[in-house]
Parts: sequence; structure tokens; C-alpha cells
Amino acid sequence: MQLFNKTLLATALLVATASAIAGSGAEALAQKSGCLLCHGVDKKVLGPAYKEVAAKYKGDKSVEAKLIQKVKAGGAGVWGDMPMPPNSPQVKDEDIKTLVQWVLSL
Ligand code: HEC
Repeated sequence: MQLFNKTLLATALLVATASAIAGSGAEALAQKSGCLLCHGVDKKVLGPAYKEVAAKYKGDKSVEAKLIQKVKAGGAGVWGDMPMPPNSPQVKDEDIKTLVQWVLSL
């Protein structure tokens, strides 16, 4: 039993360390939500690199709500003709909020 507990603790620590190295849970969430199929953190894929998005809107405090709407409903024309499809309802509202806040923090 003792050994079992220690193994469990060691595993938990390992998992915690691994996700700390990955940067933030947000990146894993972006992966899980399919965002990283079309976006890279620092390179353009189908959509813009998230660091470019953060740079474009730096200092604009009203943009978070706008981007949450855009990610939910999809849209085109800001970065080119390639549209982003709607991500709602398959991605939860609270997850979209977390993701947009993460993108803007990059
Ligand atoms: C099928 C590809 C695709 C997926 C999946 C996708 N995006 Fe996008 N995304 C795009 C494209 C293309 C654009 C550029 C749209 C434009 O030019 O207006 C974009 C733009 C954006 C922008 C900037 C919007 C703006 O108006 O400046 C943000 C923020 C963003 N995406 C976040 C996300 C998040 C978060 C997810 C996951 C929940 C996601 N995207 C999933 C393709 C995608």
C-alpha cells in the first residue's frame, strides 16, 4: 500500500512537471480544441500565428470580447481570405475565453 501511494505521488509529480514544461494548460487546451490544426504559436498555418495576433492587438483592451465572438462564430477578412470556421458549440464558451486570453498573452 505504501509503495502504491509513493508510485501514485511520483506519477502525479511527473505529470505536473510535464505540463509545467509545456508552458500552460492553455496550449494543451488549444491542441485538444483543434485550434492548433490551423494555428501555430509562432508560425502561420492556415490561420495567423498566435504571437502575431497578440502583437496586432497589443494594448487594445476591448479586443478580448471581439475575438471571443470571432472564434465562436468564425469569420474572414482580417488576415486574408481564408475563413476561420465557427468553433462553437463544439468548443465550450469558457474554453474559448481561456484560449483568447492565452493568445493575447503571448
Ligand atoms: C480550420 C482552421 C481554423 C481553426 C480550427 C481555428 N482557426 Fe482561428 N483562424 C483561422 C483563420 C483562417 C483565421 C484568419 C481569419 C481572418 O483573416 O479574419 C483565424 C483567426 C483567428 C484569430 C484572430 C481573429 C482576428 O479577427 O484577428 C484568433 C484569435 C483565432 N483564430 C483563434 C482560434 C482559436 C482559439 C481556435 C480554436 C478554438 C481557432 N482559432 C481555430 C483558422 C482556424
